[in-house]
Amino acid sequence: MQSLAAVILAAGQGTRMKSALPKVLHSVGGQPLITWSLQAARSLSAQPIVVVVGYGADQVKAQVGNAVEYTYQEQRLGTGHAVMQARGMLLGRAELVMVLYGDMPCLRPETLARLVEIQRCKHPALTLLSVRSDDSMGFGRVVRNKAGCVQAIVEEAVASPEILALKELNCGVYCFNAAFLWEYILQIPVTQPKDEYYLTDMVGLAVANHLPVEVLTIDDASEVQGINTRVQLANSELIMRRRTNERLMLDGVTLIDPTTTYVDAAVNIGQDTVILPNTHLQGDTHIGQNCVIGPHTLIRDSIIGNNCTIISSVLEQAQVDDQVHIGPFGHLRPGAHLGTGVHMGNFGEVKNAYIGADSFMSHFSYVGDAKVGAGSNIAAGTVTCNFNGKTKNQTVIGEQAFIGSGTLLIAPVSVGSHTKIGAGSIVTHDIPDNSLAYGSPARVIRSLADEAEEDV
Ligand code: UD1
Ligand code: CA
Repeated sequence: MQSLAAVILAAGQGTRMKSALPKVLHSVGGQPLITWSLQAARSLSAQPIVVVVGYGADQVKAQVGNAVEYTYQEQRLGTGHAVMQARGMLLGRAELVMVLYGDMPCLRPETLARLVEIQRCKHPALTLLSVRSDDSMGFGRVVRNKAGCVQAIVEEAVASPEILALKELNCGVYCFNAAFLWEYILQIPVTQPKDEYYLTDMVGLAVANHLPVEVLTIDDASEVQGINTRVQLANSELIMRRRTNERLMLDGVTLIDPTTTYVDAAVNIGQDTVILPNTHLQGDTHIGQNCVIGPHTLIRDSIIGNNCTIISSVLEQAQVDDQVHIGPFGHLRPGAHLGTGVHMGNFGEVKNAYIGADSFMSHFSYVGDAKVGAGSNIAAGTVTCNFNGKTKNQTVIGEQAFIGSGTLLIAPVSVGSHTKIGAGSIVTHDIPDNSLAYGSPARVIRSLADEAEEDV
């Protein structure tokens, strides 16, 4: 099989985005535009992948990382000039070179695979991607002769009315025979008035030299929409969202209202989970089977087990084991981990804390920088006072503990297993296992070790 390299064009500023951020770093489907192009290139095992950077080069490199190679295009003199910048570093390293843009996130890897497949089977000078569309989108036109063979690409700005009427458009995505590309790219003529070098002229050069050109034509223009404005950014977001939602539904997830369900492309959701309206699932989030999520819920970078119910809540960098109930109005902040069977009711907030299996935290409380043992009850209004104005301190609560309503736990502090703290206590010192303590500051009143369950 012929070896394949990729060149991703990402030097443009994206002036019409009106943004300090380089265009290819704007997000669609929860990841930067350029990441989509990289994923498409990687899905075909392209190696190396060269990214042509220019505007905001350092920012783009910082985002994309070291797994690709970079070439810097100092002056933006057109798509042909951009690919020329990769010539020196790719000469002799791959037999095929595909070219794609960093701002075309909806292009399906499957489409790209078909393009490369044609190039590999038929060995033309190049294979280009075209789309049949009534809306010209400002794209160049594919001009064919009577026999149907491609003759040239003509840019919209210079096209005659006859050519403007053509419905077959050039998408800007190509797979080249590398030997052809690197020889003939040096012959691309300069185009006035901006002294630009058009990559599209490679088609004319192939034809002039009697070299075959193949075309893969698609009908779905939404795949190849570029992004030049924030209106187009939102369009692509919509396309991607529909695609993700459709995939989820076909995989066995119920979306009550796909139009108000916002799931990043990288999110996984298990079978028979139901997502209610106005729910946002973002980043690196994994949700198990048989859950009910939403309505009005935001979950980012979190792992949720099976059989969980999460209503009107916000979770960030949290872990939730199986059979957990959260909400309404729960907030899990980074480092929160709820064990199996935990019940967290309204206005609970947990940060950097583990709540043991089957514990209850049913009404308005804050647990931060803490570890709570299994089967404990954190009653209404309990607060771990973890911050003394300078440092964050730990609270440790044992198993089967009962923390009465309105208790303040002044960290660092611990409450033993099977211990009961009376309502309204302020716990300033460690309370041992099997004790009954209350008051301000809380004092041990008696041991519960040999007694039956007490009412507090
Ligand atoms: C190009 C094609 C056009 C096609 C359209 C599809 C040419 C001359 N025209 O037009 O036939 O229909 O794409 O979208 O190729 N870039 C650089 N450096 C440059 C110039 C561009 O990196 O010097 C990058 C841009 O950042 C962008 C991509 O190349 O990601 C395409 O450039 P753009 O100016 O949008 O090309 P079009 O004029 O739209
Ligand atoms: Ca464009």
